[in-house]
Amino acid sequence: MTRPAVAETTAELARLRAALPGPVALVPTMGALHEGHRTLVRAARGRAGGVVVSVFVNPTQFGPGEDLDRYPRTWDADLAALAEEGADVVFHPPVEEVYPPGAAGVTVHPGPLGDVLEGAVRPGHFAGVLTVVAKLFGLARPDLAFFGEKDYQQLTLIRAMVRELVLPLEVVGVPTVREDDGLALSSRNRYLTPEQRVTAVTLSRALRAGADAGRHGADAVLAAASAVLAGAPDLRQDYLALTDPDLGPAPSTGPARLLLAARAGGTRLIDNTSVQVGDPR
Ligand code: PAJ
Repeated sequence: MTRPAVAETTAELARLRAALPGPVALVPTMGALHEGHRTLVRAARGRAGGVVVSVFVNPTQFGPGEDLDRYPRTWDADLAALAEEGADVVFHPPVEEVYPPGAAGVTVHPGPLGDVLEGAVRPGHFAGVLTVVAKLFGLARPDLAFFGEKDYQQLTLIRAMVRELVLPLEVVGVPTVREDDGLALSSRNRYLTPEQRVTAVTLSRALRAGADAGRHGADAVLAAASAVLAGAPDLRQDYLALTDPDLGPAPSTGPARLLLAARAGGTRLIDNTSVQVGDPR
């Protein structure tokens, strides 16, 4: 197992990137790595000659009062995990390398999709995500970039950015990695108390119930998921929504996406699943 080369500056990243065999894959992360992140790196390893992973807690995607300051930072363990997964380069910059003082402050505007679902609860979040991801694309110049379906709206918006700004890379989506009981892995799960951890499984149960009701139509999907959520009064629901796979209006029949966000105590949890609405065929 060779340790990845670590770049802390954009200049070092450019130098290391230039020496990688192609195609080059980028896996952006905020660290506190778990099996979900590791699965992305393995998927990247399987398709690329060179794998770059970024570990950067991006301040511009956190709102006032969110968990920027207490977001888990586990650098030594992250680097060891990335060595095990065979990453070639790890980009771990200080904030000033990504947001240099004196910059003009140009950002990426997500459009209306940035204001719904997560964006309605977290104003400005997706502008921060798209801006840092665009910067990382410019810095690492990847041929492929890997993102998890766990953050489905994020994945959808990054696909839209790449398509609409005609960025020269392929976005690869990776299915959500879950605990044995169904809870989607998340860096924020470590905030949960043992009681909240028990409640947290309600999200994936609700999604499963919704998906299982798919053949009875869109209303039945939402009703089945809501019924499961109603059984966990200590979970406060932010939204439960059925959309088409691109987050447009739900179809009356065909492939759809069921998305859910809820709070257990002070911890926000999100999850989503594909649903087939109407006749299976
Ligand atoms: P972070 O939350 O660290 O997630 C990094 C990547 O791992 C994202 O693409 C996310 O969808 C994926 N991921 C997280 N949990 C997963 C799981 N259980 N299964 C599969 N993939 C999972 O998402 C971000 O960081 C940031 O917004 C970022 C894109 C890095 C921009 O700052």
